Amino acid sequence: MCSRRIPMIARLALFRFAAGFRWSLLRDDISLSYAELPVLACCMVSGLCDSVAFNATGTFASMQTGNTIFLALGASGLPSNMPLLWLRALVSISAFWAGCFTFSKSRHLAPQRKATLSISFLFQAGFILTAAALAQTNIVPAFGEAFLSPTPSHAAEAAHLANEDNPLALLPLALLAFQFGGQIVTSRILGFNEVPTNVLTSLYCDLLSDPALMAGVGANPKRNRRVAAIILMLLGAIIGGWLQRSSAGMSAALWIAGGIKVVIAAAWIGWRSKAVPVVEGKVGV
Ligand SMILES: *[C@@H]1O[C@H](CO)[C@@H](O)[C@H](O)[C@H]1NC(C)=O
Repeated sequence: MCSRRIPMIARLALFRFAAGFRWSLLRDDISLSYAELPVLACCMVSGLCDSVAFNATGTFASMQTGNTIFLALGASGLPSNMPLLWLRALVSISAFWAGCFTFSKSRHLAPQRKATLSISFLFQAGFILTAAALAQTNIVPAFGEAFLSPTPSHAAEAAHLANEDNPLALLPLALLAFQFGGQIVTSRILGFNEVPTNVLTSLYCDLLSDPALMAGVGANPKRNRRVAAIILMLLGAIIGGWLQRSSAGMSAALWIAGGIKVVIAAAWIGWRSKAVPVVEGKVGV
């Protein structure tokens, strides 16, 4: 009996030690080496989600410049076939603002801490996965489309426009735009301002105007990140398009996008800790 209890106590102690150990690690800041990889993966999330949001609503959830033009066009009643486009653009812009504002508050909670980053990405994932569920269950038909055809059809177009004007379409759009606010804030928190993850216009400019554009592969990491960002956003949107043409539909693209953010949230937990400089006279703390 005793021989069975001791290992159990030992196991319990080991478990408690391990639990305590892990929790304390979560309070560490992440090491910034390779931290651009999750940021770059976010570019693919933008491509996946915007390829869906654009077809579902005619607006973007991630790139807000286009939405600002759509909002402005509403003042003159254009475009004629999308009378509520300005409203969807406004909802996306407002949710994005709210996301930037809200997620930036993590600056009060040690923003580069593993726990903070992981929770931030879990929230972002939760918003995308909620949109995916609304799409999958067809609660929001505009986001639940599949078998999109590249050949124009009047029937498909009419059905599509009706879905698009359904006010429920605003819900997933706002959920996606809100978490994209958090996503771009993260690129700033981690110091990768050259990869805004949501937009490419300024990135295109900075890439092509870079005096070290042609430097060797190892000599210009910012250039490398910008190129990777372009490729990943393209890849995400290409995959998103083909998924929408298939039976998997828009919801599949959203599930994948949310899944990527769950993986990133988990990755932050196991991330290498930032090396803490040794302070003399404080050995063993
Ligand atoms: C979305 O795709 C459908 C089917 O191809 C098309 O009828 C519709 O115009 C597209 N919507 C937008 C905003 O591009």
